[in-house]
Amino acid sequence: MIIDEEKIIKDGSEIVLRCARADEAEMVLDGYIKVSGETRFLVGEPDEIKLTVEQEREFIDGSNTNDKKLLLLAFVDGRYAGNCRFEGKTATRKFAHRASLGIALFQEFTGRGLGGIMLEKLLAVAKEKGYEQMELTVYSGNIRARKLYKRLGFKECGAIPAAVKFPDGTSFDEILMYKKL
Ligand SMILES: CC(C)(COP(=O)(O)OP(=O)(O)OC[C@H]1O[C@@H](n2cnc3c(N)ncnc32)[C@H](O)[C@@H]1OP(=O)(O)O)[C@@H](O)C(=O)NCCC(=O)NCCS
Repeated sequence: MIIDEEKIIKDGSEIVLRCARADEAEMVLDGYIKVSGETRFLVGEPDEIKLTVEQEREFIDGSNTNDKKLLLLAFVDGRYAGNCRFEGKTATRKFAHRASLGIALFQEFTGRGLGGIMLEKLLAVAKEKGYEQMELTVYSGNIRARKLYKRLGFKECGAIPAAVKFPDGTSFDEILMYKKL
């Protein structure tokens, strides 16, 4: 779906939340690769991302034209800062009340409350669209994200032990969280 652009002033900066345009596919894909290299808390590493700009464009179009999906970009003082999105768990009726979300900001824009602003918007839109439950997974080591999700009302409801392993032998559990909308 496409929602109206929203402008917010926070700490003297202008935050713009809006949907991606198809001609921003390269920016969004480059951002995904960049953010994957900046944090250990996303699924893949930059060299594992094999998407093409054309596939990213199709992804943006697919999100913009589907009333049950949202891809929301954030800009701070005109600079692309990251994105968040939601989509239904599956296309079947039994699962139609459930959606799951993802969010990733460039490190430079973390730690100043932007994630919360984006997710509050995303949760409101998901509720408006009829979803009853939002779900996500988060790695146990991602303290900042876990704090944010808890503040927004998410509850932890299980974990896969050592779901994510690193070359140095350390690992994170993958924690499942949900929030009733
Ligand atoms: C996770 C993420 C979306 C959080 O957004 P954010 O804007 O950075 O979060 P906030 O600034 O609102 O901080 C969230 C909470 O963590 C706290 N916090 C901020 N920096 C922190 C740090 N370095 N260590 C611990 N806590 C921290 C804040 O005080 C805040 O607590 P509160 O909600 O109780 O007030 C963002 O950091 C991000 O995109 N990180 C990289 C990718 C990622 O981890 N994605 C999520 C995968 S599940």
